[in-house]
Amino acid sequence: MKVLVVGSGGREHALIWKISKSSRLTAHGSRIFCAPGNAGISKIAECISIGVEDIKGLLSFAKEELIDLTVVGPEGPLTLGIVDEFEKAGLRIFGASKRAAEIEGSKVFSKALMKKYGIPTAEYEVFTDRDKAISFLKEKGLPIVVKASGLAAGKGVIVATTLKEAVSAVDLIMKDRAFGSAGDELIIEEFLEGEEVSLLAFTDGKTVLPMPSAQDHKRIFDNDEGPNTGGMGVYSPAPILTEVLLSKVMREIMIPTVKGMASEGRPYKGVLYAGLMMTRKGPKVLEFNARFGDPETQPLMMRMNSDIVEVMEAVIKERLFGIKIEWDDRPSVCVVMAAGGYPGDYRKGNEIIGLDDAAGMGEVMVFHAGTALKDSKIVTNGGRVLGVTALGSDIREAVNKAYQAVSKITWEGVHCRKDIGRRAISQAR
Ligand code: AMP
Ligand code: GLY
Repeated sequence: MKVLVVGSGGREHALIWKISKSSRLTAHGSRIFCAPGNAGISKIAECISIGVEDIKGLLSFAKEELIDLTVVGPEGPLTLGIVDEFEKAGLRIFGASKRAAEIEGSKVFSKALMKKYGIPTAEYEVFTDRDKAISFLKEKGLPIVVKASGLAAGKGVIVATTLKEAVSAVDLIMKDRAFGSAGDELIIEEFLEGEEVSLLAFTDGKTVLPMPSAQDHKRIFDNDEGPNTGGMGVYSPAPILTEVLLSKVMREIMIPTVKGMASEGRPYKGVLYAGLMMTRKGPKVLEFNARFGDPETQPLMMRMNSDIVEVMEAVIKERLFGIKIEWDDRPSVCVVMAAGGYPGDYRKGNEIIGLDDAAGMGEVMVFHAGTALKDSKIVTNGGRVLGVTALGSDIREAVNKAYQAVSKITWEGVHCRKDIGRRAISQAR
């Protein structure tokens, strides 16, 4: 079997690592390609230099190589319609269609969907006019949340604690056009208080099979301080999402969303990722993503016992009903090692030392994100560089093992949070 994975982050490295273990890839002539990949991925897959949003290039590569299954990591190509193009050409591809991916690509769309189908989320208003947005802000209390409607690489959401901050957020989005056309429409919404949980599920448009819960750490510094990032670390499971709460989330959020999308003529196939806030009034949706999370996928793949290719094929064939996905009960933790300065400016090209030492540890995986090969050395090539991921018999052991591995790796200017998993440890007591 020939598989193509689209993307170049830690999420894609973890997916490829898991795909490479599939029984479907043991046959002679099986190959895994990744476009464009990174230094870590190049050790287990053939990297090809086609950009993730070059849909035409990806399609002609897949046709030429007779790819049996394409798996899409990031949201960009999904919202551009890669799935629709591949399906039109008769190729099998795992991911949400263009119309389904709008659940992530347009917050105005996803909020309206939630309102229509009674899915719990923050109260909100949509604005296309700056002055109207600002007068609305003045009527509302603080804190308040301002969001660009379109894709903004995780930077289009501003939680404002003062009116001044809220007004600058509106100006950043609508006047300075910091996120381009993603800021044509803007949402102002109620601030929700609580702990955040990521719940990802496989769905074929009818059956919804949740993966174990996970908790991301979005801020750059310990104790959730500093600016938001793509995610600095994650643990799975998130103890706050108890069995009872999980069935509530399935009943009130995941299943109605998939059904709602079907009723809207936007059948949803692939991974549905709900970013949830566990409020005192119950779980509410902060946002939906139309893809696997990064870094959530890293610990989830280490915990997945079932064959991921079989699950993906069942999604594509709409035969998820009756399938049981097996997961390792043991918790897993991923600590992201980033380049100093991230999420602002950072340096690239620093040599990474100690990768082999860390890789030699049992039940530890060092997933690469922003890495590249230079003169046969592995160097930093992005903001988030590595996702050091470990399994442990309990959360404390998983955290300790991940940090032991982290301590073996270094480069000039490396930064990581020291408190990933601390909250889960305190809840486990
Ligand atoms: P989003 O991309 O919509 O998930 O927002 C990014 C981050 O902003 C979330 O992970 C939360 O930390 C925060 N956030 C978004 N919406 C709200 C809200 N209504 N109340 C509090 N925090 C929020
Ligand atoms: N971990 C956040 C995301 O994947 O969007």
